[in-house]
Amino acid sequence: MGVAALFLLSSLCLFAITAQAQQCSKPSGGPNMDLKPEYILNTTFEDGATVAFSCNPGYTPAGGSPTITCTAGLWSEVLLRCERKNCGALEEVANGEITYINGTEFGDTAKVTCKLGYNPVGGSAVMRCDVEGWTGRLPTCEVVKCVPPGGIVNGTFSPMKEFYEYREVVQYSCNKDLELNGSRELICSEDGNFSPAPPNCVWVECKDPVIENAELQSGSRPPHRLNAALIYICKTGYTMEGPSTVTCDLNSQWSPSLPKCNTQQCSKPSGGPNMDLRPDYMTQTTFEDGATVAFTCHPGYTPVPTITCTAGQWSAVQLRCEKKNCGALPEVTNGEIIYTDGTEFGDTAKVQCEPGYYPVGGSAVLRCGVEGWMGRLPTCEAT
Ligand SMILES: *[C@@H]1O[C@H](CO)[C@@H](O)[C@H](O)[C@H]1NC(C)=O
Ligand SMILES: *[C@@H]1O[C@H](CO)[C@@H](O)[C@H](O)[C@H]1NC(C)=O
Ligand SMILES: *[C@@H]1O[C@H](CO)[C@@H](O)[C@H](O)[C@H]1NC(C)=O
Ligand SMILES: *[C@@H]1O[C@H](CO)[C@@H](O)[C@H](O)[C@H]1NC(C)=O
Repeated sequence: MGVAALFLLSSLCLFAITAQAQQCSKPSGGPNMDLKPEYILNTTFEDGATVAFSCNPGYTPAGGSPTITCTAGLWSEVLLRCERKNCGALEEVANGEITYINGTEFGDTAKVTCKLGYNPVGGSAVMRCDVEGWTGRLPTCEVVKCVPPGGIVNGTFSPMKEFYEYREVVQYSCNKDLELNGSRELICSEDGNFSPAPPNCVWVECKDPVIENAELQSGSRPPHRLNAALIYICKTGYTMEGPSTVTCDLNSQWSPSLPKCNTQQCSKPSGGPNMDLRPDYMTQTTFEDGATVAFTCHPGYTPVPTITCTAGQWSAVQLRCEKKNCGALPEVTNGEIIYTDGTEFGDTAKVQCEPGYYPVGGSAVLRCGVEGWMGRLPTCEAT
């Protein structure tokens, strides 16, 4: 092989090696960046070529050179850093509040909320941090306005205006001698309406009451206007049902309600010793005025006392239940009756015939029972 040939070969070979080593392929950048548009179509780059990166939309360069160089087939390090664009805080909104959903960076959103009684006007309720900054226009929060509330018959309200602002108050009043029924004050609420409903004006006069068996203790004379008060008491022998004091209300009614005077009643009476209420009165718990009840004596006791209910009080139990007395037995011819104790309930009697006479028929001993002497008297007969 000649020198020339060797030289050619080696230089060809060197050319091939350097040609291959000198070219760079398409470079890839860091996050959120791309090759500048002018390099996008090149697929290979010569040794010494310089290309530049730019940050993606919504991202801004945060230091580092945007260029890299192809040297011996290798790209220098990408130093450029791209950060998410920060739109910064929005300006304050008077009577409103801005809420950032995540933050103030690219893609984040912010919401404008007006205070109670204020409504957003113009602009958009939701803003977005975009390539060019916040999208949309900030709304303003404007106070809610109310139109005048309704007028009322025989009354008026003040102040009178074309519009009222949120929380403004109007006051109602009634013409002379009429009473206001409802709320005196209405307020402009956040929905643009006055609340509560307007009142009305009413003429109030309560009728002079007629209550049987009652007497007016104190109170106003007619005409009875709003809040006029009357105090009643019942005549003796009557008890009050309901309130003793009544007042005239807005509906021209006595309130809570007129009382009643009822005749007094007696409760179940208790009798004296050795007696019970007669069974036909036992089930009753109250007794009308004038009612009379009867007692029965326990077996062997007599007589039957009655008491009377008067003005809520029972008359005193005058009678006592005493032991029944069977009385003396009839005389026995030729004989004598001997009483062991006496002639009352439970006592016994015996017939003693005179000497030479003997008892015939009847019983030797008689006992004073509920129905009288029990047994039959014997006769004394000679033998
Ligand atoms: C990219 O390609 C164009 C056309 O082929 C060429 O003119 C340009 O020099 C190339 N740029 C680089 C940096 O290689
Ligand atoms: C807000 O950030 C959280 C994580 O911090 C994420 O999961 C969520 O998707 C983000 N929301 C919006 C609207 O960007
Ligand atoms: C309002 O006043 C008029 C007299 O001015 C009267 O005739 C009318 O009954 C009143 N209405 C009411 C609801 O009180
Ligand atoms: C007072 O107002 C109430 C509620 O609006 C109404 O129901 C009532 O009828 C009124 N009373 C009178 C006497 O107008």
